[in-house]
Amino acid sequence: MSHLDRTRTAYDTVARPYATLLKDELRQNPWDRAVLAAFAEVVTGPVLDAGCGPGRLTGHLADLGLAVGGLDLSPEMIAVARETHPLLEFTVGSVLDLDLPEASLGGVVAWYSLIHTPPEELPRAFTEFHRVLAPGGHLVIAFKVGDGLRHPMMGSYGPTIELDIWWHPVGFFAGLGASAGFAEVARLERAASETEHQPQGYLMFRKP
Ligand SMILES: C[S@@+](CC[C@H](N)C(=O)[O-])C[C@H]1O[C@@H](n2cnc3c(N)ncnc32)[C@H](O)[C@@H]1O
Repeated sequence: MSHLDRTRTAYDTVARPYATLLKDELRQNPWDRAVLAAFAEVVTGPVLDAGCGPGRLTGHLADLGLAVGGLDLSPEMIAVARETHPLLEFTVGSVLDLDLPEASLGGVVAWYSLIHTPPEELPRAFTEFHRVLAPGGHLVIAFKVGDGLRHPMMGSYGPTIELDIWWHPVGFFAGLGASAGFAEVARLERAASETEHQPQGYLMFRKP
């Protein structure tokens, strides 16, 4: 099974429990909200929530006034997102191959959606984000900080699923952004909260 099939199957299996478990997470997470608020202030133009899951951030960004739609590999996640946010547009697709014209977006959000991609394929995602952003457009990402492949089996969302999760140092993602042609705007690494197993990283980039 390819890594995309494995990720799709896993998130199709846990889409509904995932949505229920994380429904209020953003309200309890001031760091996520702060980074997203800064992103919302600097962005102009349409925004893609790339790897949107059940659309919890898509809804939040729409509430902040952005023209935002979501995309996800998992049809079940997209079904939940459409039910929860009937006024927003959601599409099934992959961040590694975006069906969008060049320079068509003002912003891209990839919130914990690059953590399942093998490192050697990540440059492709950054190249796609760079292609679809207009000059001056912003990319913001969130990820788990550390080193290497973790948690191949997990049951924290209810049913046990097989899922590769990659942890990376902030500098690793910063390097990928720079190689794709982005200028770094900001980086943040915060300590794990009581419910997390690892520090969390955030990076914002701008397409010159
Ligand atoms: C940890 S969840 C995060 C979901 C959402 N961004 C959030 O913060 O709640 C990871 C999501 O990324 C999606 N994903 C993983 N790889 C992807 C890819 N190549 N293209 C699109 N979505 C992907 C998964 O299907 C899953 O919904």
